[in-house]
Amino acid sequence: MDEINFFPNDLEIKDQKIILRLDLNVPIKNKVIEDDTRITLCLPFINRLIEKKAKIIIISHLGRPKGNVPDLSLIPIYKYLKDALKTNVYFFRGTFDGETKEKFSHLKGGEVILIENIRFFKEETEDGQSFSKKLGELGDIYINDAFSCSHRKQASMHSITKFVKKSYAGPLLKKEIMAINLVIKNKKEPVTCIIGGSKISTKINVITNLIKKVNNIVIVGAMANNFFVHKNLKVGKSLIEKNTKETIANIYKKAEEHNCKILIPEDCMVGTDFEGTGKNKNLDEIQENEMILDIGFNTIKKIQKKINESNTVLWNGPAGYFENKNFLKGTLSIAENISKNTIEKSLISILGGGDTLAAINKSNEKLTFSHLSTAGGAFLEYLEGKDLPGISVLK
Ligand code: 3PG
Repeated sequence: MDEINFFPNDLEIKDQKIILRLDLNVPIKNKVIEDDTRITLCLPFINRLIEKKAKIIIISHLGRPKGNVPDLSLIPIYKYLKDALKTNVYFFRGTFDGETKEKFSHLKGGEVILIENIRFFKEETEDGQSFSKKLGELGDIYINDAFSCSHRKQASMHSITKFVKKSYAGPLLKKEIMAINLVIKNKKEPVTCIIGGSKISTKINVITNLIKKVNNIVIVGAMANNFFVHKNLKVGKSLIEKNTKETIANIYKKAEEHNCKILIPEDCMVGTDFEGTGKNKNLDEIQENEMILDIGFNTIKKIQKKINESNTVLWNGPAGYFENKNFLKGTLSIAENISKNTIEKSLISILGGGDTLAAINKSNEKLTFSHLSTAGGAFLEYLEGKDLPGISVLK
């Protein structure tokens, strides 16, 4: 396997223009950052580049906007960086043309420019060649320190590398893949993978591939609602996706072929709206005006038992609508149980994903895991053994 070009600590970068792709995709509500884990993890490396007097051009995305969506502006993150970094930090909003390049050339060594949400440009998600060229021409060196976006074949992750002198993987990316590689190498059976979140369509390939590699798959979060529908249960006004019956039938078929057990919730917490309180219910008791917002007490116990029996646990995606503390219990109970087993029984555990991180940060306990990944989708695809587009180009 080709080696990844890791950023060498001793590289002379004074006055070099460094394009730094970060994942600053953090939860923001009413312009307030609700969880800054991903940003704080990036700060040490940015500070190192500042000390070395590089000219730093930061690119990130926020959410999945179609066009320019003011709520998904990086302004709150710009303000955060301005406070956190002891240097001049500028914000750039505009198109990338000759004039922009000229403007960027005034950046001094040790200063930082943050570019507005790169996904405001449709060429970003299309991995557009002329757009990638324009981005690449802004700098001399490109560093990808966004492991969590490396499964995306997008301009600032992928084709940009064709238009810079040299591309490297940053220290966070290095730490993530080293840790995940170590877990893959040492993983002990039974292996349980817990998958939550809301959309089954975005995780279907991952689930189908993981079936071949793990002993148990536990489905939680709104994704599980589609499994209830598949079983002809009524889910009221819960979030569901259309046309998933065949997908789910296929998951069960594959699971049987590979002797992988699929576990879905057997009870749930329902509410009549996202902000209200919850009621524990069996799956056949859900009313038309109710929606499933967390796993129920029996399911919590069942998942705990599964975790206790496992020697490796991989987890991505919350179990419920954790933003409301009334529906946080399922996610926290999973986190706390994995942590307890990691400490007491040397369970090998990896957790990943922006939402998962935000949810477990709400725990009052100090939690311990073998590795806490900032990545969600990328983490799962890497576990599957896929070659991630954003990493392939760094080899
Ligand atoms: C994430 O939150 O996992 C990363 O920021 C990637 O986001 P995406 O799934 O929208 O590409």
